[in-house]
Amino acid sequence: MSQATPILHMLSPQKHVSPFDVNMAVDAGFKTVVPYINVEATEITGLVQDAIFSRPPDYGKRTGFFIGGKDALLALDMMKAAKEALVPPFQCSVFADPAGSFTTAAGMVACVEKVLKEKHNRGWEGTNVTIFGATGVVGFASAVIAALEGAKVTLVAHRGVERVFKAAEAAKERFGVDLLPAPGETPEQKAKIVADAEVVFAAAAAGVQVLSTAELQSAKNLLVAADVNAVPPPGVEGMDLFMKGEILPGCTRTCGVGPLAIGDIKYKSQAGLFTRMLNATEDVHLDFRDAFKLARSFVA
Ligand SMILES: NC(=O)c1ccc[n+]([C@@H]2O[C@H](COP(=O)([O-])OP(=O)(O)OC[C@H]3O[C@@H](n4cnc5c(N)ncnc54)[C@H](OP(=O)(O)O)[C@@H]3O)[C@@H](O)[C@H]2O)c1
Repeated sequence: MSQATPILHMLSPQKHVSPFDVNMAVDAGFKTVVPYINVEATEITGLVQDAIFSRPPDYGKRTGFFIGGKDALLALDMMKAAKEALVPPFQCSVFADPAGSFTTAAGMVACVEKVLKEKHNRGWEGTNVTIFGATGVVGFASAVIAALEGAKVTLVAHRGVERVFKAAEAAKERFGVDLLPAPGETPEQKAKIVADAEVVFAAAAAGVQVLSTAELQSAKNLLVAADVNAVPPPGVEGMDLFMKGEILPGCTRTCGVGPLAIGDIKYKSQAGLFTRMLNATEDVHLDFRDAFKLARSFVA
């Protein structure tokens, strides 16, 4: 491996680079970490080429870009622009994980997959997955990962179904998956959606409860409910932070997967992808698909 100092350029379209991501990168072994804020997609080519031409081609694998922010599609656009900016033999690696969403979604889908298999002998193919917080970065990424595995995914809108329609259109265009938008603003709409759900991903904002025990009890087909929200109250009533497939309180067969069980796999996946960048023998380009593969290996 090249002995060149590992450098990570951390780009964010927002006014901050996430301190969480900075810590993760340094703990993984990057020696120099430089934050860039308010970065626009049109600036990626210039930044990447500025970085690669300053080091011999062999050092490229020790030069990385991390793309953060709060927008999954923008992060993927930036990643594509970075890849297209490379001028062989000058290279660099890129890892996108906006708001930690790719590794969090990967952790959630991988943890639920294990519980579905072990407790209900089911896989993703044809399974009805319902997503709360579907316009958020974690909700969107988990929807796409599950749909790519063959699940039938419903995106629940808590205010205005148009925004989830847009998310479904983007998923179809970019990943070729069909996500079903559904209005979930009234208790009646929610009850109808939950009645069909076999898996729920609760990925709404911190401290927002999306499912009560009464709603869980009315969800007669629900096999697993997963919750990424660690801020009280839980996104799913009765969820324990560390749940890994135990039956939720008041339910007969619905298993819970809690935020810190998911967070453990998220943390390992993000750390693992930084380590992969550091150890790569050629440049790597990592997104939610790589995160999911790694998360699966940790869960197994
Ligand atoms: N466990 C972990 O390791 C981990 C890691 C990262 C994040 N998280 C958690 O993951 C969750 C999602 O994060 P994110 O970055 O994806 O957040 P985000 O982008 O801000 O998305 C939040 C989502 O929640 C929706 N929402 C807001 N208020 C709601 C309400 N009252 N009822 C139903 N839905 C509501 C939002 O809808 P609108 O678009 O309509 O506002 C949006 O879809 C958060 O709870 C965060 O703390 C957990």
